[in-house]
Amino acid sequence: MLQGNLRMALDPVVFAKEALSFDPDPWQSHALRWNGKRLLLNCCRQSGKSSTAGVLALHRALFYPGSLILLVSPSLRQSSELFRKVTEAVRKLSQQPLLHEDNKLSLTMENRSRIVSLPSTEATIRGFSGASLIVVDEAARVSDELYYSIRPMLAVSGGKLILMSTPYGKRGFFFKEWTEGQSWEKIKITAHNCSRISPDFLKEEKSTMPDFFFRSEYLGEFTETTDQIFSYESVQNALSDDIEPLSLGD
Ligand SMILES: Nc1ncnc2c1ncn2[C@@H]1O[C@H](COP(=O)(O)OP(=O)(O)O)[C@@H](O)[C@H]1O
Ligand SMILES: [Mg+2]
Repeated sequence: MLQGNLRMALDPVVFAKEALSFDPDPWQSHALRWNGKRLLLNCCRQSGKSSTAGVLALHRALFYPGSLILLVSPSLRQSSELFRKVTEAVRKLSQQPLLHEDNKLSLTMENRSRIVSLPSTEATIRGFSGASLIVVDEAARVSDELYYSIRPMLAVSGGKLILMSTPYGKRGFFFKEWTEGQSWEKIKITAHNCSRISPDFLKEEKSTMPDFFFRSEYLGEFTETTDQIFSYESVQNALSDDIEPLSLGD
């Protein structure tokens, strides 16, 4: 019985390798074994974020009965893709967990664990409670409103929150947490740290795309967007604590 395998239960990396034939990169192993509450992963395109999220979700669901795991993505297409990572992983298991309920974006196991993959546009997302793990994939493209509305779900459950993303400019909660957040473990993975992205491919990408885009997509930099009139630094420099607010009318 898979769930009775103590080595796999205690170590998601053993589970990934032996049950899923998935050999995690060092940073993926770190994320899989990570034991804290708040993890920020600033990772380049194609580094393996969604694959890692899928393994994490499945491990928690199998070995922690009654867990609710929420996977949040910016769009319906992305939440379907992420959920497919989970179902593909389930299919690799030598013993199939009994599923009570299974649809395109969620599954419930016999041990009462649920994995739900939702687009951030879905209004019902706010109705969930007691999640033991929330993973926000491509978090830089999820709205602040959604982020601040899902955080309270963790208050009672004491659950874990993982934000994983490629940067998307100096804006939004992902940038704010990356630069100012105190309670996070932060990991940055650039294309140079990813063995599946070859130097030749990177060279070609660099020569093809605008520099700000390349640095954002592959080097984990929060670059300015082209439609930004004032740079982040110039706005920050223009702000001053020394000036009294203007008071009108009294
Ligand atoms: N540790 C790994 N070993 C082999 N292939 C991997 C590994 N991690 C990711 N991949 C593969 O790399 C590709 C990109 O992975 P994905 O998780 O979709 O990346 P991201 O979400 O960061 O863009 C996929 O084809 C995936 O199967
Ligand atoms: Mg992805």
